Amino acid sequence: MTSIAVVPGSFDPVTLGHLDVIERAAKIFDELHVLVVHNPDKEALLPITQRVSLLSTAIEQAGLSGDIRIASWSVGLLVDYCVDVGAKVLVKGIRSQVDVAYETPMAIMNRSLAGVETVFLLPDPAHAHVSSSLVRQVAALGGDVSPYVPPVVAAYLERSAP
Ligand code: PNS
Repeated sequence: MTSIAVVPGSFDPVTLGHLDVIERAAKIFDELHVLVVHNPDKEALLPITQRVSLLSTAIEQAGLSGDIRIASWSVGLLVDYCVDVGAKVLVKGIRSQVDVAYETPMAIMNRSLAGVETVFLLPDPAHAHVSSSLVRQVAALGGDVSPYVPPVVAAYLERSAP
């Protein structure tokens, strides 16, 4: 049986930490859906179409292997997407106890709603301090984000700097 998993996130923008999780998840599952999800709790920097475009280019340029598909989801439950594509697993990266506290109730709710399990991957220590929100802040204040994001994202943020 084909194992299908979904890596959901805001990806606003995609970071090297995200790419690391995607690369490792693609080695575990036969088919991986990287899903850009609208998170109403966060004020977005980039429109969803731009996030999808940067994610696609970043995955292509990183030469990640495996069956990796990119999609977006802005209406309805995340588990509805999982059911639609036959995914039984969500994959999330966990950097700290703060992430554990944030992710645990969602994981339990997603299992309760649709029997979808959540698998947590620990980050490469090199990326443990990297988050999209910090990247947005560093970029907005004129700092160099190239150590934390794929080259296509660094170039995009540099072009759009005020
Ligand atoms: O990158 P983020 O912002 O931490 O990603 C969070 C995201 C988008 C994965 C999270 O907000 C989410 O799972 N949203 C789906 C909404 C949903 O289905 N909620 C009900 C069950 S928890």
